[in-house]
Amino acid sequence: MACPRCGSLLDVQYEWDRLPAPRSLRDFEAKWARRQDPYCFSGVWRFYELLPFAPQEFCVTVGEGQTLLQPSDGVGEYIGLKSGRLFLQYEGLNPSGSFKDNGMAAAFTHARLIGARRAACASTGNTSASLALYCAATRLMRAIIFVGSGKIAYGKLSQALDYGALTIQIAGDFDDAMARVKEVSQQLGIYLVNSVNPFRLEGQKTIMYRVLEGLGWEVPDWVVVPGGNLGNSSAFGKAFEELYQLGLIRRKPRLAVINAVGANTLYILYEKQKVRWNDGQVARQTVADYYAQMDSEGRRASTIASAIEINRPVNLDKCLRALQWCQGLVREVTDEEILDAKAQVGAGGLGCEPASAASVAGAKKLVAEGIISPDERVVCVLTGHVLKDPTATVAYHTTDQKMFNEVLGRRGVRRPAFANRPVSVSNNLEEILKAIQLYG
Ligand code: F0G
Repeated sequence: MACPRCGSLLDVQYEWDRLPAPRSLRDFEAKWARRQDPYCFSGVWRFYELLPFAPQEFCVTVGEGQTLLQPSDGVGEYIGLKSGRLFLQYEGLNPSGSFKDNGMAAAFTHARLIGARRAACASTGNTSASLALYCAATRLMRAIIFVGSGKIAYGKLSQALDYGALTIQIAGDFDDAMARVKEVSQQLGIYLVNSVNPFRLEGQKTIMYRVLEGLGWEVPDWVVVPGGNLGNSSAFGKAFEELYQLGLIRRKPRLAVINAVGANTLYILYEKQKVRWNDGQVARQTVADYYAQMDSEGRRASTIASAIEINRPVNLDKCLRALQWCQGLVREVTDEEILDAKAQVGAGGLGCEPASAASVAGAKKLVAEGIISPDERVVCVLTGHVLKDPTATVAYHTTDQKMFNEVLGRRGVRRPAFANRPVSVSNNLEEILKAIQLYG
């Protein structure tokens, strides 16, 4: 999926003037009336005209993208925004419980177009769950997934196993698995569905179309998204740039990409070392030197937000491009900030996994810095469902010190500010009634 000459990732480009490009974004809404048609039901293919890389009859769908832009004053207040200014784009509602299904529908469409029989990915858990689901549900391909041993949350691992994927646990982390899956898929001619695959990003553009739809086609001031392999941020930037070029929006939102402190490659490169897209002239030597330094110090990504525990984001260049297009910036947040933000999201009733809450923790930081004003309209993307990583959630709320220490304490998390501790009582009616009186 890379250019054989320069090694950069390929990008999907359309000749819009030769295509029936949409005249108005409101036309997409009309498709809601035809929801018995799977291409209108799918939250990806409803926007077919904005990702027309395959004939429509090839488009694969399992009903992805029925997701919600939810106003959330409770979480907004926590972030420091005025009432009515925060919206959470809840991608946990996808069939496999994360945003990955948007991209997988598009990658499967391309795979079907070229007649692939096997598909592989390296994953911190959600891409693999999504790939496994699409293989099982469509029976188009056999799934082979590579995961770092002990590096993937149980909810996600259980999905891959249940959906019947060939699951290869590598003694290493995501970056090791990524390097291997590239070698293996090249040697065996297996279709690679990591976000090095440009069609994945085409599908993920639709998350932003649904955000706009949820806002009555008004552009928010900010889109805040967690950054791991940087597929989402790259796709969002491309979505807005294309809509802008097509004259379908008049301005672009600002993009904020949020790293975990323990996996902060983009933050260091962009904010500290000032690496920029620079119209394609990325300072490669600076990036190479930073990676060499990480290696020589034996530094590996480490965060409770296992989904974004990544050292070398494969979409770095495209993300830098998106940051240029959308006047972006990057922040890092600690595991403690992530978990507190996650508990606030949960208390608001949606629930997300740790990596997703980085967007909320990042938005809070940007308000505190005075970069986001309390009056601005902010969208935080919640990338994955709360049930993906029950261990992190239970460890945060638990009274079991051993579990807390093993899961969170060793990562420097000291004080869960919003722990909702379970109350233990013996099986005795009076004690139960007393506990309810005391805490209820
Ligand atoms: N949030 C969740 C829940 C994720 O699973 C991921 C990535 C991200 C955020 C980061 O998104 O890579 O587009 O910057 N998960 C990948 C995986 C790496 O293998 O499931 P990104």
